[in-house]
Amino acid sequence: MTADRAGKDRTLEKISVAQARRGDAIGRRVVLEGWVRTRRDSKAGFSFLELNDGSSMANLQVIAGASLANYESEIKHITAGGSVRIEGTVRPSPGKGQATEVHAERVVIYGAADPETYPLQKKRHSFEFLRTIAHLRPRTNTFGAIARVRNCVCRSIHQFFQENGFLYIHAPIITASDCEGAGEMFQVTTLKLDNLPQAGGAVDFTQDFFDRPSFLTVSGQLEAETFACALGKVYTFGPTFRAENSNTSRHLAEFWMVEPEMAFYELADNMDLAEAFLKRILSDVLQQCPEDMAFFNERIDNTTLATLQGIVESRFVRLPYTEAIQVLERSGEPFEFPVSWGVDLQAEHERFLTEKHFKKPLILYDYPRAIKPFYMRLNDDEKTVRAMDVLVPKVGEIIGGSQREERLDVLEMRMAEQNLKAGDYWWYLDLRRYGTVPHAGFGLGLERAVQFITGMGNIRDVIPFPRTPGAAEF
Ligand code: 4AD
Ligand code: MG
Repeated sequence: MTADRAGKDRTLEKISVAQARRGDAIGRRVVLEGWVRTRRDSKAGFSFLELNDGSSMANLQVIAGASLANYESEIKHITAGGSVRIEGTVRPSPGKGQATEVHAERVVIYGAADPETYPLQKKRHSFEFLRTIAHLRPRTNTFGAIARVRNCVCRSIHQFFQENGFLYIHAPIITASDCEGAGEMFQVTTLKLDNLPQAGGAVDFTQDFFDRPSFLTVSGQLEAETFACALGKVYTFGPTFRAENSNTSRHLAEFWMVEPEMAFYELADNMDLAEAFLKRILSDVLQQCPEDMAFFNERIDNTTLATLQGIVESRFVRLPYTEAIQVLERSGEPFEFPVSWGVDLQAEHERFLTEKHFKKPLILYDYPRAIKPFYMRLNDDEKTVRAMDVLVPKVGEIIGGSQREERLDVLEMRMAEQNLKAGDYWWYLDLRRYGTVPHAGFGLGLERAVQFITGMGNIRDVIPFPRTPGAAEF
């Protein structure tokens, strides 16, 4: 039966499952549309349908009686995954764990889901399996909850910056510059890869679409700096890409980054902002997604709620890199990667510091110049730069940032040191030539944030369609 031939009652008010579950909905005649999670038939001649429409974790119980015209022909055959329209009245529910239920006056079936082949027929699946059906996993409790929390985090990010006088700037996705200098970029080209034009023994990129080699951006920072150095406080928020071949539970090839950039901010201001920003996101999620967070705490990681609450209330530790190395050297921990001054910290070191030693978020700063990008401000010791990383339990680095080098001569020297051609960055250097100012900024990885908040073990499960080495099907 099609919906139209069923004759929808268009005078009825459409409400969500979340709204229908509230006591104040009792007595209203309404329409609900969604997907059936389960059907149970009672001996007394009616069926219970558990309805979900994504508006909440919990389902709505719908009671469909044998007197409905299509009860025997259709309703009694609905299975998990089937899509329906329910017209009916909200009533108090005698059942446990729910204030309300809906007594159906009409049930329209939009589409059945064949129980022989529908992969979500079974109740529990591993996250590995669900990754192979990324197009269906939003229909599970866990992925519905992740989608709602991720949405809440994004709303909170925009609200925080908008309320604090920041302008939202859109950085380009395609760029010719490698912000992080790590050479981990995806190239963008319209050249035919099986027939590349040559000039002087190398590929002739003047014949490419942009007349030069171009790439997907690894960060919107350099562009954000141009706007901060004109308008004060700005932020970018968009997809970024890294072709690093690291198959870990914390790395994606495509991820979202939010990057504030502030003129007249020094490193200490940058730290304060990062701390206030992170706390705001956590407290918004705790307040606005209590049902989803209770689920994560119960099913995924039973320390999540306590950890987030603790962080909102505590002050982050601020520690120079040099002192962190001393703590690690003295720890007696059997690290896989040995520690000494000058090494880049590995996840195991970061996690030891924040999980075991300090047991709270940590802002490490003043890193060795050799392991950090060219744009970070050189300290007077000439050995370290004004970098900062925010580390949190389980995830490790969640934010990376710095005060920027605003002195033209020092910046040119640092670029030469890292084998970057000043000519390629002439526009970036112009910011130091004309009215240079102290400025700073940082980047928060959205997926690292959602991973931390939900306690999910693998970053591939907190982005709708993860891009990792060898995986871009959906
Ligand atoms: O530390 P990163 O590389 O810093 C930058 O890109 C700076 N330009 C940011 C700035 O100062 N405006 O990356 C920032 C954050 C990391 O702390 C991490 O949370 C996340 O981005 N990140 C990744 N997330 C998922 N997968 C990856 N491969 C990531 N690489 C970095
Ligand atoms: Mg970093």
